[in-house]
Amino acid sequence: MPNVYIKTYGCQMNERDSEAVAAQLTAKGYHIVSTEHQADVVLLNTCSVRDQAEQKAIGKMRNLAVTLKRDRPNVVLGVMGCMAQNRGQSLVDQLPDVDLVLGTQKFHHAPDYVEALLKGSQRRIIDTESEPGSESTIREHLLHGVGDRAAVSAFVSIMQGCNQYCTFCIVPYTRGKERSRAIEDIVDECRQLVNRGVREITLLGQIVNSYGKREIGIRDGKSAFVQLLEAVHGIEGLHRIRFTSPHPKGYGDDLIEAYQRLPKLCPSAHIPIQSGSNQILKRMHRGYTRERFLELIEKLRHVNPLLGITTDIIVGFPGETEEDFQETLELAESVVFDNAFVFKYSQRSGTPASEMDGQVPKEIIEDRHARLLKRITELGHQTYEKLVGQEVEILVEGPSRRNASRLEGRTGCNKIVVFEGNLDRFKGQLIKVRIDRLGSFTLYGDPAIINLSPKEPLS
Ligand code: SAH
Ligand code: F3S
Repeated sequence: MPNVYIKTYGCQMNERDSEAVAAQLTAKGYHIVSTEHQADVVLLNTCSVRDQAEQKAIGKMRNLAVTLKRDRPNVVLGVMGCMAQNRGQSLVDQLPDVDLVLGTQKFHHAPDYVEALLKGSQRRIIDTESEPGSESTIREHLLHGVGDRAAVSAFVSIMQGCNQYCTFCIVPYTRGKERSRAIEDIVDECRQLVNRGVREITLLGQIVNSYGKREIGIRDGKSAFVQLLEAVHGIEGLHRIRFTSPHPKGYGDDLIEAYQRLPKLCPSAHIPIQSGSNQILKRMHRGYTRERFLELIEKLRHVNPLLGITTDIIVGFPGETEEDFQETLELAESVVFDNAFVFKYSQRSGTPASEMDGQVPKEIIEDRHARLLKRITELGHQTYEKLVGQEVEILVEGPSRRNASRLEGRTGCNKIVVFEGNLDRFKGQLIKVRIDRLGSFTLYGDPAIINLSPKEPLS
């Protein structure tokens, strides 16, 4: 059967979509390979959030057209996901060697389309239509191979799309309107994952706290998302639940309380702030103020002072003055994020912000990015330093990515811990280790594992 290479750009949702496509292709007998060199089919799953991500994928496709198609004209080249959705036909005009353009609601058609192209029954396929029910089609899992690195942790897509229309963001245009899956459907997928050895599940959506707002609604004072968390929490054998990302707007008290009530919910929260200036937040159409965000953080830390908080920040949004930027810096100082993604504002054509006055010159964006990143890194490092000498609970995921003779796990706050131990004994277990030193955003655990009796053997 043909070999398929899938390369993914962008966020965790893209990772998840690629995994589902890979699993569907594997089920049909295709082999997933790790480089393009022996591939009969190459699929790029693309990101449109920033120009740089689009340019990388376009550069890669140009390169593939030269290096692969020249010697093997029958190789199938495909572009999937956000850039495929965003550019459609124009992508083929720009890159004539592309055989397949597959939009964000069409991932599940990949196997049939690839087959048709390989057989030659169709020369080129472009499908970027919307498809009712597509939010429920990202459900197959590959669990990243077998053996040592078979997944202990998995992503589950609970919804698609976004209705917020932040003025800088292209996602509502590439991913469409918000649509949620049914609770039972999601729980069923999670249960199957647990049966296959998964112990940690991350629920994915653009704004997870908007999950099921229309389809499910509030019950017993609980939002649909909290109802979903409770249902997933009930799955026996699952150790940990995470989710990404919630939006500060509409982050209800029921979700804050969930951190207290649901022990499997990890003490970590990724809550995108984007800017610390109210003027900029308003122009971004974020729907909250810095005060509201700070109040939310305070409430969360009241529930759990050890909660690890991370965020996304954009610098250089149109109209951002030095004073606005200082407000972002101050906010970062006062919150002390465990880590943050700091992005340089990228003008996305078709978004309201791209037409706004006050576009910030590139040099200023670069300068603010460097200053904020430096401070975020220093502050984040402090949250890691605090753990040295402490005993922490980690979920053991498998061999360390950097050094396969060691094991790797994550704390509840999502920090990587590397330690020495026996894979068969600890994989998939929650164990306690003492942190003995700190690398750059990696913790090293004392080989003297304190809790040597595994909680639950992994069959
Ligand atoms: N709702 C998603 C956000 C998707 S985009 C979530 O909460 O995870 C991921 C991040 O990319 C955003 O939080 C934002 O910080 C950044 N981003 C989006 N559009 C951008 C743009 N035009 N320029 C720079 N960064 C952007
Ligand atoms: Fe984008 Fe804002 Fe939605 S960042 S994904 S429009 S919440």
